Amino acid sequence: MFCILGDPTNFLSCERVTTMKSFFTNKVAIISGASSGVGRETARLLADQGARVVLAARSAEALEHLAREISQNSGQALAISTDVTQKDQVERLIQTTIDHWGQVDILIANAGQYIRCPINKLTMEIMEQSMAINFYGSLYQVLAVLPHMQSRHSGHIVLMLSMDAKTPLPPDAPYVAAKSAMSGFADVLRQELRGSGIHLTAIYPGRIDTPMIANLKFSPISAKIPPQTVARAILRCIEHRRARLLLPPQVHLLNILNFFSPTTADLAVRLFRLEGWEEN
Ligand SMILES: NC(=O)c1ccc[n+]([C@@H]2O[C@H](COP(=O)([O-])OP(=O)(O)OC[C@H]3O[C@@H](n4cnc5c(N)ncnc54)[C@H](OP(=O)(O)O)[C@@H]3O)[C@@H](O)[C@H]2O)c1
Repeated sequence: MFCILGDPTNFLSCERVTTMKSFFTNKVAIISGASSGVGRETARLLADQGARVVLAARSAEALEHLAREISQNSGQALAISTDVTQKDQVERLIQTTIDHWGQVDILIANAGQYIRCPINKLTMEIMEQSMAINFYGSLYQVLAVLPHMQSRHSGHIVLMLSMDAKTPLPPDAPYVAAKSAMSGFADVLRQELRGSGIHLTAIYPGRIDTPMIANLKFSPISAKIPPQTVARAILRCIEHRRARLLLPPQVHLLNILNFFSPTTADLAVRLFRLEGWEEN
């Protein structure tokens, strides 16, 4: 499924481009996981800044709803229902975007699923499911967009990782393994892209208030931050070509503790119940 909403010749669109010119005006940005949470807020914000946004996720209805909302606010959005675990669907996402708008300036590989399981109950199926969405899903997006960005010597890729990849918590082994694999890949890719005109940002958020963790509660030290805060941070990172962002600031504490003394970090995890607990 794909649909375009927002007529580029529309008077309001033209007026907004000339009166509200920003770094993102007319840039084409693909956002995966745009049907909910961080992806949805990032798409809204980018469209608000004048970018032409391509919304990707599996839920066609949610994407169309968002595309309509963006269009009503004089933005331009293209909704392309995509399962990022399917390589051919990801390639179609990139190609359809290029066919319609001629370019991809920004890829935000944000689609993900929080797959947790204690290791004594872990099966290969659970691990493969997490790798499929949280590692291969992002990898397909990167590999599909790179040749196009390389041919234009320009582009920005944002990889949505997690603090779990820096300071792993139980019982998150499947999620941690996949996000850590993508984190290592990101560090290599950033260095290989040096001088190519393509930039990469890896984002490592703590807890975000989205449907992904709606059933979990956390102590104040790891309180959920609004997805709008993460969306604004993503735009700032793109604008300033920042390589890496950990947020909110307090996640640095556990990261440093984990580096110097893993057993003390483990103690802090247990003390503050950083893995969270189910709401009754
Ligand atoms: N929430 C947190 O505390 C937190 C913390 C650190 C990092 N993150 C990361 O932030 C990113 C966004 O998560 P969120 O918090 O915004 O969660 P969310 O509200 O649950 O959104 C997840 C998005 O991913 C999409 N998605 C899931 N499986 C997909 C698939 N196979 N193909 C295409 N799209 C798929 C979902 O859309 P459909 O279901 O419609 O496909 C949805 O749009 C994820 O990568 C997550 O790991 C979240």
